[in-house]
Amino acid sequence: MCGITGYVGHRNAVPLLLAGLEKLEYRGYDSSGIGIVASANAKIEISKAPGKIKALKDLLALSPLSPSTLGISHSRWATHGAPSKANAHPHFDCTQKILVVHNGIIENYEELKDRLMQKGHKFLSQTDTEVVAHLIEEHYQGDFLAAVQKALKELKGSFALGILCRDDPDTLIAARLGSPLIIGVGKNENFIASDVPAILDQTKKVIYLKDGEVAVLKSDSVAVYNLASKKVSVKVDTVKFSVESVQKQGFAHFMLKEMHEQPDVIAQILKARVCGDQVVLDGLGLSDAQLKKFNRIFIVACGTAYHAGLLGKYLMEKFAHVPVGVEAASEFRYREQLVDKKTLIIAISQSGETADTLAAVKECRAKGAKIIAICNVVGSSLTRESDGVLYTHAGPEIGVASTKAYTAQLTMLYLLALKLGNVHAVLSKAEQRFLIGELRKIPEHFREILKSKSLIAKIAKPYAHFGCFLFLGRNINYPSALEGALKLKEISYIPAEGYAAGEMKHGPIALIDEYRGVVCIAPQSDIYEKMISNMQEIRARKGKIIAIATAGDEGIKNHSTDVIYIPKTHELLTPLLAALPLQLLAYSVAVHLGCDVDQPRNLAKSVTVE
Ligand code: G6P
Repeated sequence: MCGITGYVGHRNAVPLLLAGLEKLEYRGYDSSGIGIVASANAKIEISKAPGKIKALKDLLALSPLSPSTLGISHSRWATHGAPSKANAHPHFDCTQKILVVHNGIIENYEELKDRLMQKGHKFLSQTDTEVVAHLIEEHYQGDFLAAVQKALKELKGSFALGILCRDDPDTLIAARLGSPLIIGVGKNENFIASDVPAILDQTKKVIYLKDGEVAVLKSDSVAVYNLASKKVSVKVDTVKFSVESVQKQGFAHFMLKEMHEQPDVIAQILKARVCGDQVVLDGLGLSDAQLKKFNRIFIVACGTAYHAGLLGKYLMEKFAHVPVGVEAASEFRYREQLVDKKTLIIAISQSGETADTLAAVKECRAKGAKIIAICNVVGSSLTRESDGVLYTHAGPEIGVASTKAYTAQLTMLYLLALKLGNVHAVLSKAEQRFLIGELRKIPEHFREILKSKSLIAKIAKPYAHFGCFLFLGRNINYPSALEGALKLKEISYIPAEGYAAGEMKHGPIALIDEYRGVVCIAPQSDIYEKMISNMQEIRARKGKIIAIATAGDEGIKNHSTDVIYIPKTHELLTPLLAALPLQLLAYSVAVHLGCDVDQPRNLAKSVTVE
């Protein structure tokens, strides 16, 4: 999704703004632009280019902008209008006095545009954003902040905005409603950005702007106002993670680095959340007695987080005997949600900014349900909408295809399910102790699997040119199959479908021939034999099988073309271990195909619009 950076201070703004944009590249974008107020004459200058940020940099090298200490920049993920120079941000008003960058969607832009056009405003783009600049112009009578505040009252939808005005060459205004925006507080300089990595090498002091707030930044001050235009006090937080955590540190891709970080991330979660044999979920915001009263749980999430939620259902129903519904937030928000005070909502989101997840949570909250968030990003919108937060603290995830955030979510779901099992007195102490013991071995198992990275790459190579893939799993590894297929299609663009193996005969088997790859997740389990039968059916139709199997299972070689082994663990923990070879497989195929692994086409890391 769109990325915003802004700067006001004492240094030349252009290199800082460009560096910030590059750090936001992971969000996904198709064009970019920059606008500054020139220090010499207070004139606004802009430069925009479709394509990668490199195109903008090349353009700026040919025609540099004037020195300036105030500017805004933007990377655009097209919603209204094609990715073109005209539609790239920033956008001007008619007088070229007001300049705007925007992330989000102005839902009533057509109505506003019609009204403004009738008043004589001329529009140069197809974007919804351009109305914001013209609307501010319409309200402008010499007071920049007042004009912005009046304009904001007329906007419907979601926005994070960075705004400049030629008449105020020392002021940057930022506003947010439903789209992320932070302020970086420096020494005689201040920043705005869509996300922390953009400013991390400049400052670690941040203000998380809340919905409805407008901030006025000057080089030596930040003032924040609420919807009623009243000044509010602000809290300056210190970001915990390091500059290195948003760098590749010698890895070829962020995705590869993040896969390697998984043993440590999981170990950290276990260290922080397990004390002896007990699961300690500080931050849950609900007592054991409250937890016990819920007679129904809904897990809401999108994308990879939704797949984590599917596993959560298996675990919670097994450990705690509570019915759990898992819902794609984009569907759930528009359905009749049968939730009330006795319903617990578990919202899972890496970013905490996914528009559909946030909307679903708000709907359920209004009906009296309690909300627990499992989230990676501290201070994100979701965490503010929730009664309790279980932070995964997996560190910044830059690769668009989620890896460490997913296994961190799974780990947290195991712990939450164990806690619920305990509260509902379904799980015996001995079972809990055993599972916790097995969980503690997972980081080491991950390290073991990482050693077969080259072998997995070798196995993947001949499959890279297959036209389509099926991923099959059963029971708790059905979500693993869905996630494995998602990983592959996200980064290699090969059509891939995840299916419950038992359903294969009801359709997908028609796809099988010698040109299809079938990944079968078949660790030792109670239903192992059933999986083997499915594999035989595939082999009989000449399908090529990559099996994910338990170390020591020599027999599986008779039923598959290739085997990737995972260490032996408790059956219920196999989805955690299966995740890593599936990630490595997708990664290896994408690398063989020469795909842009970290920034796959059309995808965005954080989907802040519907
Ligand atoms: C996008 C990302 C996915 C992610 C999904 C949900 O589609 O590309 O990797 O799983 O959003 O994001 P969230 O931040 O809510 O987990």
